[in-house]
Amino acid sequence: MSDLLSVTIAGTGSYLPERVMTNDDLAQIVDTSDEWITSRTGIKERRIAAEDETTSDMATAAARKALEQSGVAVEDIDMIIVATITPDTLTPATACYVQDNLGARQAMAFDISAACSGFLYAMKMAKRMIASGAIQNALIIGAEKLSAFTNWTDRNTCVLFGDGAGAAVMRAAQPGEGSIIATDIGSDGAQTDILNIPGGGSRCPITLENANDHLATLGMQGREVFKHAVTRMKNAANAVIERAGWAAEDIALVIPHQANLRIIDAIADRLSVPNERVFVNLHKYGNTSAAAVAIALDEAHREGAFKKGDKIVLVVFGAGLTWAAAAIQW
Ligand code: UT7
Repeated sequence: MSDLLSVTIAGTGSYLPERVMTNDDLAQIVDTSDEWITSRTGIKERRIAAEDETTSDMATAAARKALEQSGVAVEDIDMIIVATITPDTLTPATACYVQDNLGARQAMAFDISAACSGFLYAMKMAKRMIASGAIQNALIIGAEKLSAFTNWTDRNTCVLFGDGAGAAVMRAAQPGEGSIIATDIGSDGAQTDILNIPGGGSRCPITLENANDHLATLGMQGREVFKHAVTRMKNAANAVIERAGWAAEDIALVIPHQANLRIIDAIADRLSVPNERVFVNLHKYGNTSAAAVAIALDEAHREGAFKKGDKIVLVVFGAGLTWAAAAIQW
């Protein structure tokens, strides 16, 4: 293991579609209220992609910003991973559209389907590929057009989600640069039923008979998911904090998956990190699945919520069930 290279994040970027949908806008569509959504989730508004705006369009926009910040030339990108559950097409991979948009001709390109955990799954894969010397530069992206897979008549779910993309460029760390210190990922396939898009795959194709049953939209047993989310995120975050040899008071910022403010508060409490050191932007964007932690990382970075040398922890949770965490010294 000692001959593995340290891996750094050289640049981050994000993209949010222009259209804002507020809780009051949603109350015009389903039987809900700003009061219910705010008090149960912390979400105030979300962004909705234009009809002709694809997941790969958003991914490309976020990637361009990350590339620009990183100083890595697009032709030097060896690998593009897009984490998404809302791909442009079932095949080819959304990453291939992004590759073409960017002109990243050198790169291998593929998608990861690990729901809200996908961006950190991609980070771990890219870290290992770079650390081993197999590749030099990777572009990882979390991008979602969840509005295209939302049942807009179901108040249990349609108030939760939004669209957007976040990206990061990764390469070997130079002396003096920060690095990804530890990662932890896991999944529990016994829980596939509590959060899923049941239709539209080979298990349950969409047919003329079921076309109106909203099977190709996100379904969730909210309370069950909530319980798992708190436990799994706490454990994953603790695992990387321990492996990094850090204490709670060392951590400058925790950047968690943005699904529910009550979940985020519970995680902060269980990690003994005060709320002001936990990054939250879900009031603006809702839950953007794989994009959420990537967008949050970029916003926190650009806002100066952490600086060079700071210790930060990213932690996520999603359908699968899946979860992941990363301890990064910036
Ligand atoms: O990104 C992947 C991970 N996802 C998550 O982490 C989500 C985890 N789960 C949650 O965030 C929460 O469970 C929800 C926000 C989804 C729901 O909050 P909850 O406090 O668990 O509410 P509930 O589902 O138990 O519903 C409570 C009540 C129900 O009414 P009754 O049965 O008590 O009369 C619902 O019908 O709230 C009702 N309700 C609503 N009312 C107004 C459900 N959705 C709405 C709504 N507006 N949008």
